[in-house]
Amino acid sequence: MSSVKVMLVVSLFIPAVRPGSDLFKLKCLPAVGILAQTTVIRCFFKNTTDIQILGVYLTKAEQKEPFFSQVGLERSGDPRFSLENLAVGPSLQIYDTMFSDEGKYQYRVITDSGAKEIQFSISVTAKYKDLITSTWPEYVIDGGPASLYCNATGGYPEGFIHWFDHSGTNWTINSELTKVPKNISGVKSVALSSKLTFKSINLGLAPFRCIIFNSKYVQDGENTLKIASAISSNVTFCAKASERV
Ligand SMILES: *[C@@H]1O[C@H](CO)[C@@H](O)[C@H](O)[C@H]1NC(C)=O
Ligand SMILES: *[C@@H]1O[C@H](CO)[C@@H](O)[C@H](O)[C@H]1NC(C)=O
Repeated sequence: MSSVKVMLVVSLFIPAVRPGSDLFKLKCLPAVGILAQTTVIRCFFKNTTDIQILGVYLTKAEQKEPFFSQVGLERSGDPRFSLENLAVGPSLQIYDTMFSDEGKYQYRVITDSGAKEIQFSISVTAKYKDLITSTWPEYVIDGGPASLYCNATGGYPEGFIHWFDHSGTNWTINSELTKVPKNISGVKSVALSSKLTFKSINLGLAPFRCIIFNSKYVQDGENTLKIASAISSNVTFCAKASERV
Protein backbone atom coordinates (compact mmCIF):
# COMPACT_ATOMS: atom_id res chain seq x y z
CA MET A 1 0.00 0.00 0.00
CA SER A 2 2.64 2.47 1.06
CA SER A 3 4.93 1.57 -1.88
CA VAL A 4 2.08 2.42 -4.28
CA LYS A 5 1.80 5.82 -2.68
CA VAL A 6 5.51 6.42 -3.13
CA MET A 7 5.35 5.36 -6.77
CA LEU A 8 2.48 7.75 -7.35
CA VAL A 9 4.28 10.64 -5.75
CA VAL A 10 7.44 9.96 -7.75
CA SER A 11 5.62 9.64 -11.05
CA LEU A 12 3.80 12.91 -10.41
CA PHE A 13 7.01 14.55 -9.32
CA ILE A 14 9.12 13.69 -12.38
CA PRO A 15 6.95 15.29 -15.10
CA ALA A 16 6.65 18.37 -12.87
CA VAL A 17 10.45 18.68 -12.69
CA ARG A 18 11.35 18.37 -16.39
CA PRO A 19 9.85 21.59 -17.80
CA GLY A 20 11.21 23.57 -14.84
CA SER A 21 14.73 22.40 -15.50
CA ASP A 22 14.56 23.71 -19.07
CA LEU A 23 13.18 27.06 -18.03
CA PHE A 24 15.49 28.17 -15.25
CA LYS A 25 18.98 29.35 -16.03
CA LEU A 26 22.17 29.47 -13.99
CA LYS A 27 24.49 32.45 -14.42
CA CYS A 28 27.91 33.18 -12.90
CA LEU A 29 29.81 36.43 -13.36
CA PRO A 30 33.51 36.32 -14.18
CA ALA A 31 35.43 37.01 -10.98
CA VAL A 32 38.57 39.04 -10.35
CA GLY A 33 40.14 38.08 -7.06
CA ILE A 34 42.79 39.91 -5.08
CA LEU A 35 45.74 37.90 -3.86
CA ALA A 36 45.41 36.83 -0.20
CA GLN A 37 41.90 38.31 0.06
CA THR A 38 38.44 36.73 -0.13
CA THR A 39 36.97 36.41 -3.63
CA VAL A 40 33.26 36.01 -4.26
CA ILE A 41 32.03 34.42 -7.50
CA ARG A 42 28.46 35.66 -7.96
CA CYS A 43 26.12 32.99 -9.29
CA PHE A 44 22.36 33.15 -9.51
CA PHE A 45 19.32 31.49 -11.03
CA LYS A 46 17.20 33.18 -13.65
CA ASN A 47 13.52 32.58 -14.38
CA THR A 48 12.89 30.97 -11.02
CA THR A 49 12.25 32.07 -7.49
CA ASP A 50 11.46 28.89 -5.64
CA ILE A 51 14.42 26.57 -5.97
CA GLN A 52 16.45 24.57 -3.53
CA ILE A 53 20.14 23.74 -3.99
CA LEU A 54 20.93 20.14 -3.15
CA GLY A 55 24.59 20.05 -4.08
CA VAL A 56 27.39 21.73 -6.06
CA TYR A 57 30.49 20.41 -7.81
CA LEU A 58 33.32 22.69 -8.92
CA THR A 59 35.84 21.22 -11.33
CA LYS A 60 38.88 22.94 -12.84
CA ALA A 61 38.94 22.85 -16.63
CA GLU A 62 41.01 19.89 -17.85
CA GLN A 63 40.56 18.02 -14.57
CA LYS A 64 38.20 15.14 -13.90
CA GLU A 65 37.74 15.17 -10.14
CA PRO A 66 35.92 18.09 -8.47
CA PHE A 67 38.19 20.63 -6.84
CA PHE A 68 35.46 21.45 -4.34
CA SER A 69 32.03 20.01 -3.70
CA GLN A 70 29.21 20.37 -1.23
CA VAL A 71 26.28 18.01 -1.00
CA GLY A 72 23.81 19.04 1.66
CA LEU A 73 26.06 20.29 4.43
CA GLU A 74 28.92 17.96 3.60
CA ARG A 75 31.88 19.72 2.05
CA SER A 76 34.94 18.20 0.45
CA GLY A 77 37.94 19.40 -1.50
CA ASP A 78 39.84 22.68 -1.09
CA PRO A 79 38.86 24.07 2.36
CA ARG A 80 39.34 27.66 1.15
CA PHE A 81 36.22 27.26 -1.00
CA SER A 82 32.67 27.53 0.33
CA LEU A 83 29.16 28.46 -0.72
CA GLU A 84 28.64 32.12 0.07
CA ASN A 85 24.98 32.28 0.99
CA LEU A 86 23.15 29.11 0.06
CA ALA A 87 19.71 30.60 0.74
CA VAL A 88 20.20 33.25 -1.98
CA GLY A 89 21.98 31.26 -4.69
CA PRO A 90 24.96 29.09 -5.53
CA SER A 91 27.58 31.90 -5.19
CA LEU A 92 31.03 30.71 -4.22
CA GLN A 93 33.61 32.23 -1.94
CA ILE A 94 37.37 31.68 -1.93
CA TYR A 95 39.19 32.55 1.25
CA ASP A 96 42.88 33.54 0.92
CA THR A 97 42.88 33.72 -2.90
CA MET A 98 45.99 32.37 -4.61
CA PHE A 99 47.41 32.77 -8.10
CA SER A 100 46.84 29.04 -8.62
CA ASP A 101 43.07 29.74 -8.41
CA GLU A 102 43.25 31.49 -11.79
CA GLY A 103 41.64 29.71 -14.69
CA LYS A 104 38.46 28.24 -16.12
CA TYR A 105 36.04 26.21 -14.02
CA GLN A 106 33.12 23.92 -14.70
CA TYR A 107 30.38 24.41 -12.10
CA ARG A 108 27.58 21.87 -11.67
CA VAL A 109 24.63 22.77 -9.46
CA ILE A 110 22.05 20.17 -8.48
CA THR A 111 18.66 21.54 -7.44
CA ASP A 112 15.23 20.15 -6.70
CA SER A 113 14.29 21.37 -10.20
CA GLY A 114 17.14 19.59 -11.96
CA ALA A 115 20.85 20.07 -12.59
CA LYS A 116 22.66 22.87 -14.40
CA GLU A 117 26.24 23.18 -15.51
CA ILE A 118 28.07 26.40 -16.32
CA GLN A 119 31.60 27.59 -17.05
CA PHE A 120 33.22 30.63 -15.47
CA SER A 121 36.71 31.99 -15.08
CA ILE A 122 38.67 33.51 -12.23
CA SER A 123 41.56 35.91 -12.62
CA VAL A 124 43.73 37.03 -9.74
CA THR A 125 45.37 40.40 -9.24
CA ALA A 126 47.73 41.68 -6.56
CA LYS A 127 47.75 45.20 -5.15
CA TYR A 128 50.72 47.54 -5.48
CA LYS A 129 52.25 48.50 -2.19
CA ASP A 130 55.53 49.77 -0.77
CA LEU A 131 55.64 52.98 -2.80
CA ILE A 132 59.13 54.41 -2.51
CA THR A 133 60.16 57.79 -3.85
CA SER A 134 63.61 59.24 -4.34
CA THR A 135 65.34 62.02 -6.23
CA TRP A 136 68.54 62.39 -8.13
CA PRO A 137 70.54 64.27 -7.06
CA GLU A 138 69.67 63.82 -3.39
CA TYR A 139 69.72 67.62 -2.93
CA VAL A 140 68.03 69.28 -5.89
CA ILE A 141 69.03 72.75 -7.09
CA ASP A 142 66.19 74.97 -8.29
CA GLY A 143 66.69 75.39 -12.04
CA GLY A 144 69.15 72.49 -12.15
CA PRO A 145 68.71 69.00 -13.62
CA ALA A 146 66.74 66.47 -11.57
CA SER A 147 65.14 63.05 -11.82
CA LEU A 148 62.24 62.05 -9.60
CA TYR A 149 61.65 58.35 -8.98
CA CYS A 150 58.56 56.55 -7.81
CA ASN A 151 58.87 52.78 -7.32
CA ALA A 152 56.25 50.24 -6.34
CA THR A 153 56.32 46.48 -5.87
CA GLY A 154 54.02 43.55 -5.25
CA GLY A 155 51.40 44.36 -7.89
CA TYR A 156 50.06 42.12 -10.65
CA PRO A 157 49.30 42.42 -13.57
CA GLU A 158 51.49 45.41 -14.40
CA GLY A 159 50.07 48.81 -13.52
CA PHE A 160 50.83 52.46 -14.26
CA ILE A 161 52.39 55.42 -12.48
CA HIS A 162 51.22 58.98 -13.15
CA TRP A 163 52.81 62.25 -12.04
CA PHE A 164 51.27 65.56 -10.98
CA ASP A 165 52.68 68.80 -9.61
CA HIS A 166 51.14 70.75 -6.70
CA SER A 167 48.66 72.52 -9.01
CA GLY A 168 47.47 69.22 -10.48
CA THR A 169 49.28 69.57 -13.84
CA ASN A 170 49.90 66.16 -15.38
CA TRP A 171 53.61 65.48 -16.01
CA THR A 172 53.21 61.77 -16.85
CA ILE A 173 54.12 62.29 -20.51
CA ASN A 174 57.67 63.31 -19.46
CA SER A 175 58.17 60.16 -17.40
CA GLU A 176 59.55 56.77 -18.26
CA LEU A 177 58.15 53.55 -16.76
CA THR A 178 60.34 50.51 -16.22
CA LYS A 179 58.68 47.13 -15.51
CA VAL A 180 60.43 44.14 -13.99
CA PRO A 181 58.32 40.92 -13.89
CA LYS A 182 58.97 38.61 -10.94
CA ASN A 183 57.78 35.15 -9.98
CA ILE A 184 58.84 34.04 -6.52
CA SER A 185 57.56 30.47 -6.01
CA GLY A 186 54.29 31.10 -7.86
CA VAL A 187 53.69 34.60 -6.45
CA LYS A 188 53.68 36.81 -9.52
CA SER A 189 54.36 40.53 -9.50
CA VAL A 190 55.65 43.29 -11.75
CA ALA A 191 57.91 45.83 -10.04
CA LEU A 192 57.43 49.34 -11.44
CA SER A 193 59.82 52.25 -11.46
CA SER A 194 58.83 55.59 -12.96
CA LYS A 195 61.42 58.27 -13.63
CA LEU A 196 60.37 61.87 -14.24
CA THR A 197 63.29 63.82 -15.67
CA PHE A 198 63.79 67.60 -15.76
CA LYS A 199 66.65 69.35 -17.56
CA SER A 200 65.87 72.33 -15.41
CA ILE A 201 63.45 71.81 -12.53
CA ASN A 202 61.21 74.56 -11.18
CA LEU A 203 60.93 73.85 -7.46
CA GLY A 204 57.95 76.19 -7.38
CA LEU A 205 55.96 73.27 -8.83
CA ALA A 206 56.74 71.09 -5.80
CA PRO A 207 55.50 69.04 -4.10
CA PHE A 208 55.12 66.43 -6.85
CA ARG A 209 52.81 63.48 -6.39
CA CYS A 210 53.01 60.07 -8.00
CA ILE A 211 49.87 57.92 -8.22
CA ILE A 212 49.96 54.19 -8.80
CA PHE A 213 47.14 52.46 -10.68
CA ASN A 214 46.54 48.75 -11.14
CA SER A 215 46.14 47.19 -14.60
CA LYS A 216 42.48 48.28 -14.66
CA TYR A 217 43.32 51.91 -13.81
CA VAL A 218 42.05 51.67 -10.26
CA GLN A 219 44.23 53.65 -7.85
CA ASP A 220 46.32 51.43 -5.57
CA GLY A 221 48.16 54.23 -3.79
CA GLU A 222 49.92 57.56 -4.00
CA ASN A 223 52.93 59.30 -2.61
CA THR A 224 54.08 62.90 -2.28
CA LEU A 225 57.75 63.50 -3.00
CA LYS A 226 59.82 65.35 -0.54
CA ILE A 227 62.41 67.23 -2.54
CA ALA A 228 65.40 68.25 -0.49
CA SER A 229 66.37 71.61 -1.85
CA ALA A 230 69.99 72.63 -2.08
CA ILE A 231 69.36 76.38 -1.83
CA SER A 232 71.74 77.00 1.00
CA SER A 233 74.45 79.66 0.78
CA ASN A 234 76.99 76.85 0.98
CA VAL A 235 75.72 75.14 -2.16
CA THR A 236 75.32 78.45 -4.01
CA PHE A 237 78.93 79.24 -3.12
CA CYS A 238 80.07 75.82 -4.38
CA ALA A 239 78.14 76.26 -7.62
CA LYS A 240 79.71 79.69 -8.17
CA ALA A 241 83.13 78.36 -7.33
CA SER A 242 82.79 75.54 -9.85
CA GLU A 243 81.63 78.04 -12.51
CA ARG A 244 84.88 79.93 -12.11
CA VAL A 245 87.02 76.80 -12.49
C1 LIG B 1 63.73 52.98 -7.96
O1 LIG B 1 64.05 52.17 -9.09
C2 LIG B 1 65.15 52.65 -9.86
C3 LIG B 1 65.27 51.76 -11.09
O2 LIG B 1 65.22 50.41 -10.74
C4 LIG B 1 66.39 52.69 -9.02
O3 LIG B 1 67.46 53.24 -9.77
C5 LIG B 1 66.13 53.56 -7.80
O4 LIG B 1 67.25 53.51 -6.93
C6 LIG B 1 64.91 53.05 -7.02
N1 LIG B 1 64.66 53.96 -5.89
C7 LIG B 1 64.45 53.51 -4.66
C8 LIG B 1 64.25 54.55 -3.61
O5 LIG B 1 64.45 52.32 -4.41
C1 LIG C 1 47.95 62.12 -17.43
O1 LIG C 1 48.73 61.86 -18.58
C2 LIG C 1 48.77 60.49 -18.98
C3 LIG C 1 49.78 60.34 -20.11
O2 LIG C 1 49.69 61.35 -21.04
C4 LIG C 1 47.36 60.06 -19.36
O3 LIG C 1 47.36 58.71 -19.77
C5 LIG C 1 46.44 60.25 -18.16
O4 LIG C 1 45.11 59.95 -18.54
C6 LIG C 1 46.50 61.69 -17.66
N1 LIG C 1 45.75 61.76 -16.41
C7 LIG C 1 44.89 62.72 -16.12
C8 LIG C 1 44.20 62.66 -14.82
O5 LIG C 1 44.67 63.64 -16.92
